[in-house]
Amino acid sequence: MNDEKLNLESLKGRIIAIDGPAGSGKSTTSRILAARLGYTYLDTGAMYRAVTWCALKDGIAPSDGDKLGELARTMPLEFKTENDNNRVFVGDQEITTEIRTPEVTGHVSEVSAHKQVREAMVARQQEMAGEGSVVAEGRDTTTVVFPDADIKIYLDADTRTRAERRVLDLKRMGITTTVEEQEADIIRRDKYDSGREHSPLTRADDSFIVDTSDLTIEGQVDRIIDLIRTHIEQA
Ligand code: DC
Repeated sequence: MNDEKLNLESLKGRIIAIDGPAGSGKSTTSRILAARLGYTYLDTGAMYRAVTWCALKDGIAPSDGDKLGELARTMPLEFKTENDNNRVFVGDQEITTEIRTPEVTGHVSEVSAHKQVREAMVARQQEMAGEGSVVAEGRDTTTVVFPDADIKIYLDADTRTRAERRVLDLKRMGITTTVEEQEADIIRRDKYDSGREHSPLTRADDSFIVDTSDLTIEGQVDRIIDLIRTHIEQA
């Protein structure tokens, strides 16, 4: 841990935006970072997953941009953080685990590619960020949602490492899969998320690249804290 001397007062109200492909370590890193800074963690991927889960439940086709956009605007989506765990609710129903199933993962890229869905979600994300003190992570938080973020990070890792991490994540949820399966899925999703017309995954020119292939989670958080120290605290 290297955050003993972080000046939390000077970091109040800031926005830290972290983008990167699936399995690059964004979620865990962002969650830990938010906890260390006393910030809110905004998991934008969970929001796209929640829309996808609702659409599948309500029988809305992943190709129906208008209906999905309406759903994204109106669904009663809420996050509750407990003991550093980010729990996801639609109304009274908790869907924290449900949004990570292979069925949702298999459809989320198509659902999140619609302009109507993106507009609705970006507006909600900006509103949720309120007064700042937020770590936001996703695919377009550094480019579209928070183009003026105080610091922008692009996390990356090779596809094999990312697939291995996904297998472990899913195993913890009781879902058995293989590295090969996950690697194929990651390559497919990368292609889709980077190639779509609206808000594709791209690296903002003013973002810092952190390659996490050989870093532990602790190492990733430390690296970002170093960047925060240099580029926010000492700015
Ligand atoms: O980070 P994740 O795997 O939970 O994200 C799920 C999907 O949501 C991912 O395939 C792309 C999409 N997504 C997006 O389009 N824009 C974001 N800001 C976050 C996620």
